Amino acid sequence: MDKSIKIKHLDYVYQRNTPFEKKALDNISVEIPKEEITMIIGKTGSGKSTFIKHLNGLLIPSEGSLEISDLTVNSDVNKKVLTVLRKKVGLVFQFPEKQLFEETVIKDVMVGPKNFGLSDSESLSNAREYLTKVGIGSDLYNKSPFEISGGQMRRVAIAGVLAMNPEILVLDEPTAGLDSIGRKMIMKLLRDLNKDNKITIIMVTHDINVVSEYSDNVIYFKENKIAKYGPTRDILYDENIYSLNSGLIKPDVVNFFNKLDKTKLKIQNKPITTDELIKVINENIDRS
Ligand SMILES: Nc1ncnc2c1ncn2[C@@H]1O[C@H](COP(=O)(O)OP(=O)(O)OP(=O)(O)O)[C@@H](O)[C@H]1O
Ligand SMILES: [Mg+2]
Repeated sequence: MDKSIKIKHLDYVYQRNTPFEKKALDNISVEIPKEEITMIIGKTGSGKSTFIKHLNGLLIPSEGSLEISDLTVNSDVNKKVLTVLRKKVGLVFQFPEKQLFEETVIKDVMVGPKNFGLSDSESLSNAREYLTKVGIGSDLYNKSPFEISGGQMRRVAIAGVLAMNPEILVLDEPTAGLDSIGRKMIMKLLRDLNKDNKITIIMVTHDINVVSEYSDNVIYFKENKIAKYGPTRDILYDENIYSLNSGLIKPDVVNFFNKLDKTKLKIQNKPITTDELIKVINENIDRS
């Protein structure tokens, strides 16, 4: 099976043929490696959410195509393909309240497994497993999804999508509105799902430190186009991306490393994670 998601010349136009017509994606071509973590960054309004909604067929290209796990999606894709696609690709929305609709938290997470034919008791144990994974305790199971906090809603929404066992998990700002412990928990969960279960993770984030700590690849959107993409280390050490008006700031690790006097340092790779930075420092400490 092909190991990457291929997007070719994708355009998306909102409200076509009206006075409000807006080209939100303009000739997007990119390859996203499978079984890795890819993060999407860029200013507000640059097209990130519009782009990821194409990955599970929530939006259909105006022009161009996507190739995902032997499926091809273009402007005249048929329903059957979309049904298969939606099983393979789980999407967690930017605003999780938009995807919660059952009376209780536990019922909400059981919807996916039930749709895929699991019995009530199997669906229940599946839902419990994923709620535990995202850190939602049994005290919240019987609450309405609308009586819990925004951060909790987000975690319930993630559990609901995970319970469908997607091959590719796409998330729109999954850490927005979480405190630092909640954020770490979600990111650790996503990393574990990627490493242990080989789930491909594609997520939008405005948190550049999350990008440096957890991603393998970065796609940088600017004004409805892709301005740059590639391995995280290459992107984050590219000074050009921090130009005025890019909306991007340097991650803490990159900032710190840039400020070190590197003249006498032995460095294999420029660090992007805290662990890599500590390694560089440890290897260069003069212990004599
Ligand atoms: N339903 C819609 N109808 C018309 N235009 C839209 C619609 N949704 C988004 N747009 C426009 O499309 C462009 C891209 O929007 P999108 O939501 O993809 O941006 P984004 O990068 O996700 O931004 P943010 O970081 O704020 O979430 C914006 O100019 C936006 O105003
Ligand atoms: Mg968005």
